[in-house]
Order: sequence, then C-alpha cells, then structure tokens
Amino acid sequence: MSEEAQRLKIVFVGHVDHGKSTLIGRILHDTGSLPEGKVASIQAACSAEGMEFEYAFLLDALLEEQAQNITIDTTQIPFRTALRQYVIIDAPGHKEFLKNMITGAANADAAVLVIAANEGVREQSRRHAYLLSLLGIRQIVVVVNKMDLAKYSENRFNEIEREYREFLSGLGLSARLFIPASAKQGANVAKRTDAAMDWYQGGTILESLDQLSAVTAPLNQPLRLSVQDVYRFDERRIIAGRVESGALRVGDQLVFSPANKSSIVATIEAWNGPPRDEAIAGDSVGITLREQIFVERGHVASHQTETPIETNRFNADVFWMAEESLQKRTSYTIRVGTQEMKCQVVVIDQVMDSSSLEITSGERNHVARNEVGRVTLQTRAPLVLDNHERIPSLGRFVLIEDSRICGGGIVFGGVYTDRTAVKSKNIFWTEGKITARRRALHNGHRGAVVWLTGLSGAGKSTIAQALEGELFSRAMHSYVLDGDNIRHGLNSNLGFSPDDRIENIRRVSEVAKLMADSGTVVITAFISPYRMERRRAREIALEGKAEFIEVFVDAPLHVCEERDPKSLYKKARAGRIADFTGVDAPYEAPEDPEIVVRTDQQSVAQSVDAILEQLLPRLVIDHTNGNA
Ligand code: ADX
Repeated sequence: MSEEAQRLKIVFVGHVDHGKSTLIGRILHDTGSLPEGKVASIQAACSAEGMEFEYAFLLDALLEEQAQNITIDTTQIPFRTALRQYVIIDAPGHKEFLKNMITGAANADAAVLVIAANEGVREQSRRHAYLLSLLGIRQIVVVVNKMDLAKYSENRFNEIEREYREFLSGLGLSARLFIPASAKQGANVAKRTDAAMDWYQGGTILESLDQLSAVTAPLNQPLRLSVQDVYRFDERRIIAGRVESGALRVGDQLVFSPANKSSIVATIEAWNGPPRDEAIAGDSVGITLREQIFVERGHVASHQTETPIETNRFNADVFWMAEESLQKRTSYTIRVGTQEMKCQVVVIDQVMDSSSLEITSGERNHVARNEVGRVTLQTRAPLVLDNHERIPSLGRFVLIEDSRICGGGIVFGGVYTDRTAVKSKNIFWTEGKITARRRALHNGHRGAVVWLTGLSGAGKSTIAQALEGELFSRAMHSYVLDGDNIRHGLNSNLGFSPDDRIENIRRVSEVAKLMADSGTVVITAFISPYRMERRRAREIALEGKAEFIEVFVDAPLHVCEERDPKSLYKKARAGRIADFTGVDAPYEAPEDPEIVVRTDQQSVAQSVDAILEQLLPRLVIDHTNGNA
C-alpha cells in the first residue's frame, strides 16, 4: 500500500483546559517533528518574558506559522513514529471541524480524546464523544491527562475509565484504550514512567496509535464508480466515471444502480496511454462493457456482493452554512457524487449548535446557520448512496439552493439489502415498449403504492376501501391488496410465524410494484409488523420507479381490542390463536411514515382526506423531464 494510504489521520478532541495543546506539543517534541531550533527559541522567548516554558506554546507557534499559507480552516500537522506517518487534523473550533468533516475537507481515521484526571468527565467530554459518534469515528483512544495533578492515582484513573466507558457504550462507541498520562511531564506519551505509575501495564500513547488502522483509505472500501457521462465512439459506448472507492478490473461483473442492471467490464481505457487491467480509488477512467445496458450520468457501479443503498428517504446529519435557515418542506437540490435531484427535509429530529455542541431535541421546523440538524430527507426519485461510516465519498452530499451550496450532510442508518439473494441465474429483465411514462400519459396519472400498516382492527381495510372509492370516483386506476384476501390465494401457504410474515410482505411488495408499474395506484392493507420489511417494500417499489407512501393507521391496542371486528383478539387472549399481533407477537410502529392517521380520533373521511392531500400531488405527471 502507498505511504499516503498508510498515513493515519488523527483528530485530538478535548477541553482546552484538559491539556489538548500540551499533549500535541509534547508529541511533536518527543517524536522530533519540530523544526530545528524551535524549542530552544521558544524557551528563550519564555525566559525573556519571565514565563514558564509550556509545550502548548510549541503548537501555537507552529499554527501561527502555518496560518500564513493556509486557506481552509484546517491545519494538518505531520509527525512520525518508527512505524509510520501521522497527520494531526486540527481546526480552530468544533464548528470548523464539523464543517470540514461533513463536507469532506478533512477525514479522520481516529480520535484521541483528552480528559484531565483532576477534573474528570465533564459535559464537554460527553459532547466530544457525541461528536465522534456523529462523524462515525470509531477508533478512539482516551488519554487521561494531568495524572501528576491527581497524584498518579490508580483509583482516580479507574474511576474515570469506568464512568466514560459506560457513557461511550451508550452512544454505541467503545474506546480502544484508556491511557493514564501527563503530557506536561512526558509520562506515557513516548516513554513509560514506571516510577510514578507502576500500576499501569499498557503501552504509551504513541505505541497505542501505532496499533490503529488507516480506515479512511478509499482503496480499502467496496467499489463505487460514479458515472459522469456516456460517450459513443463508432459501435462502442464508453462509460466515463470516477472510481470513488475500491478497485475494478477487466472481467469484473458490475451492477449499475439504481437501474440494477449488470454487465462485465470488457476494457478499461485510460485517457492518455494504453488500456489497463485495473482502476483504483481516485482514478478517472472510461470503461466498456461486454453487453450493452442502459447507463447514464448519475448511475453508480459496484460489485454484486457489495451494492449501495437505493432509497428516496434517508436519515442524515446536515451542517447548514447559509444565512437563511434550512426550512422543512422546502425544495433544495441534493448532490451525491454525480447525482442531482430535488429533495426536501421532511423531519427535523434535533439540532446541535456546532460551537457549544449543545443539543436541542424535539421537532423543529428549521436548522439555522452553523447548526447541525438530524433530519430525514426525501427525494423525488431513488438516490444511490452509502452510510457515511461505510463509504464516505457516497455517504456525503451537499444541498444547493439558487446554485449556491448551503449545506453539507452525511448519511447514517441506511439499510443495505442483499441483492445476491436471487436464486435463479440466467434471468433477464425484459423491458416492454409501453413504458411507465406512456401508461401514465394514457391514464392521466402515475402509478403508486400506498402502504397502510397498523394493528389488526386499526381500520386499514376500511380506509383502503374508502380511499379506493375516492380515487375511483376521480376516474383513476386503483386497487386494494388486502391481507385477508391475499392470504386466501397467493399466500394461502403462509401462516403468522415471523418468517411467514416476512415472506407474506415480500410477495405483496413485489405484486404492488408490478401493479404500480402497470399504472395503478395500489393500496395495500397488511399489518406488516416489521419495520425492516416495510423498508424493503419501499425499496422494491422504488426499484420500479413507483411512488411509495407509508401510512400508519394508528389506534391504541385497547381500542382495536374493543372493536375486535372478527373476535380474534378474544380468541388470542383465550389462547386459541398463537402469535397474534399486539397480544403475543410484536408490532413495530413506523418511526417516520409519510402519514399518520389516528382512527380513534379521526373519522374515516378525515383520514382519507389526509392521505389524498399528500397522494394526489404525487400522482401528477411531471412534464418537465422525461420521467413519468
Ligand atoms: S401480516 O402480519 O403478515 O402483515 P396480514 O395483514 O397479512 O398480517 O394478515 C392479518 C390478518 O390475518 C388479520 O387482520 C387477522 O384477520 C388475521 N389473523 C389471523 N391470525 C392472525 C395472527 N396470529 N396475527 C395477526 N393477524 C391474524
């Protein structure tokens, strides 16, 4: 691997008073990374001023020098151990660090978190940990600094370690190591100091850093090729793109998302030079394929076993930079790699102040400048992306308004689905001549899937039928797929075990996709108790380029049980039906469905109106682009 790929990028976080700068200064000093004469000149300056020399001054002096030839607000401070090279990423404050990390200007492999032994875990130490979890930095070394001020006490160290470990695990993080140290005295930084801390058996800070790995090196990640353009040369078509991560070779089978079509790499053309066998992260190349499949700008190629996420709804942390706040339900352009499309923020869960790292939870309608919003985004068509933690280049996006970048974001929590699960080989998807768009033009509206979920007795079937009636009276094509009915036929071989329910929903999802493709507004009424399966239903619909709207038909269990239209709750309570949802089988309520109707509070007509309000605009044919 190249030196660059081996280079480990570390960020140091910690309260200033906890000795972060001193520690960095000490590391630079002890690894001999400072310019000749630097220490002596600062020592001289200190004594001239009658001041005590401090290692933190070394860092300050270095930063001051760097600041003169630096334009972005990150500094990169190099040092090396016997094993390898390091870069310390330092930003003036959290705001700059967050902005750099989210926009990709900086990328950290690991973090050193500094806590002072005399002060212990403070609110800031907690916020720092949250910051790391948000940015997906998983390799963490905690330095319990200023051990000299805590009399090198083993008990004190253990106490801090216990408290902070517990806190980290609550965030899903775990620290590799906790190291007692004194940056000022140089204890356990580059050298062990057995005299003062003979109870500590672990390695020094530098030894611990040497054990970490350079995870951000894009070459170590799965393949992602962003398609920039497709050129035709005589008979051949050359797909031009950039290898964002991983590598590809001639002969590799590639899957192009979102169309999900695959073909084999025939040649890799370099712009200047002979054809090659391989292209790796960072290369811009042109490739030709053995079979001609439809590929266009914005598509992403990957290997079949490690495909990206395809979705039109996802969670992200957005750093907002524009003067004017980000507003919910306002249209922005999102750009991920070479993909661009309209999107809107539909949920804002919480907002964090990027300077103080203070968090305000609860629903909000806007994210102000320099705030980080934890949001749900929705796009009109499926977007191909990755969780930032897995593949930063495709897990990162910018939001654009009036041709200005006004925010950057990182994707988290997306679900990868295994597309190798198809059992039959040698099957090809046949594209008909009558496209979804032609059908839509013929019908006067687009097809869609309206997915109702909720407990038995919540009112799914009633609402589905009323909604179908409303669409029918508008001369629209609609059809209800209802749990009880489908279980009489297509799914008559399925019961209510978790596996059977999963299969039930999978088949319904596929049928709904086909019907939506045929131009119908499909309304499904299934308990569909598992979040994961509903998410899969959404993906399946989106693969077919159909709108998908999840409606939570919500009524408290006791209300459903009082209604008990089929006396099934009574039977379940009497133990005559097993695995009954709500009684002895789970129901996972949707976390952020497009629509919630409360059937214990709203009439059927009100519920249907609420659905129509969101549904009808989405069925309108978009005449501005070629898509339906
Ligand atoms: S799902 O969980 O797989 O989505 P589905 O909606 O198809 O369920 O079927 C639910 C219907 O089957 C209920 O409305 C009810 O009439 C009937 N049913 C029979 N046994 C059960 C059970 N154990 N749990 C839930 N519903 C049941």
